[in-house]
Amino acid sequence: MAFERVCALSDVPEDGVLRVELVDVDVAVVRFEGEVFAVEDLCSHAEVPLSDGDVEELDGAPTIECALHGSCFDLRTGEPTNLPATEPVPVYPVRVEGDDVLVDVAAPLAATGT
Ligand code: FES
Repeated sequence: MAFERVCALSDVPEDGVLRVELVDVDVAVVRFEGEVFAVEDLCSHAEVPLSDGDVEELDGAPTIECALHGSCFDLRTGEPTNLPATEPVPVYPVRVEGDDVLVDVAAPLAATGT
């Protein structure tokens, strides 16, 4: 597969997140300080949606915080920055074309290692 349109950029709040349900995977599309990121919308710790959490900068990294136990995930790499999560979440390549956000969920930049 390749890049597919997942949402309009204008649907994603500034410094916020939009959950997009695709056929194979749910994706959290995040806008943070002018950049757009896409990660699997599933915490690697206890399988709750990351899109319920806050988007914030942590030690210079753009992150999304899991609303259940507070692990933050680096939106560039998917790596957790703090416990209890220890496994990364998949991060997907993003292209923005006009008001369209395109994501390639078949080519994650970081995998869960499973
Ligand atoms: S469910 Fe996300 S940190 Fe526990």
